[in-house]
Amino acid sequence: MKSIIIFYSYSGNTAEVAKTLADELNKQGSTDIIRLEALDESNSFLGQCKRAFFKKRARIKDTILDLSSYSLICLGTPVWAFGMAPALRTYIDRCKGAENKNLMLFTTFGSGTGNNKCLNEMQAILAQKGVREFKRFSVQQFKVKDKDFVRKKIEESLRL
Ligand SMILES: Cc1cc2nc3c(=O)[nH]c(=O)nc-3n(C[C@H](O)[C@H](O)[C@H](O)COP(=O)(O)O)c2cc1C
Repeated sequence: MKSIIIFYSYSGNTAEVAKTLADELNKQGSTDIIRLEALDESNSFLGQCKRAFFKKRARIKDTILDLSSYSLICLGTPVWAFGMAPALRTYIDRCKGAENKNLMLFTTFGSGTGNNKCLNEMQAILAQKGVREFKRFSVQQFKVKDKDFVRKKIEESLRL
């Protein structure tokens, strides 16, 4: 099985989860892992909240957009102001070839407020792009380094 993990992470939590996910998926085949780079993201908490809340797109560094050769596509983001980070929003706008694929959405979050709203919106946008099957999981920020916990979340999600 060929998988790809595409994620944005500002302070490293989502990157930590993406790494554990890659380790798990590598047991089943090859996994490409891409960390999105935002070229114009704000460095202030309020600036980031504002941009995420108003569904702004970030300029992102060029990366793979054609996902048609992957059987499992995983997209990850921190929850920012009840939604996804602008860099992932840009990526979801631009990616191609996800029709009829298995998609796994994952988030990391602080309090959890807006986590479901974030996942639901990601799912709704991707459903409009023709994706039919979704798996999803989330990890609270203080648990991202707990590999057993994260692995369990991943396994549960893959089983669904
Ligand atoms: C700008 C900003 C907005 C955030 N908004 C939320 C939120 O609405 N709900 C929540 O549960 N956590 C929120 N958080 C916490 C992050 O989702 C959490 O710390 C996440 O693990 C950060 O991931 P990262 O280290 O990969 O960037 C926010 C954090 C930042 C920096």
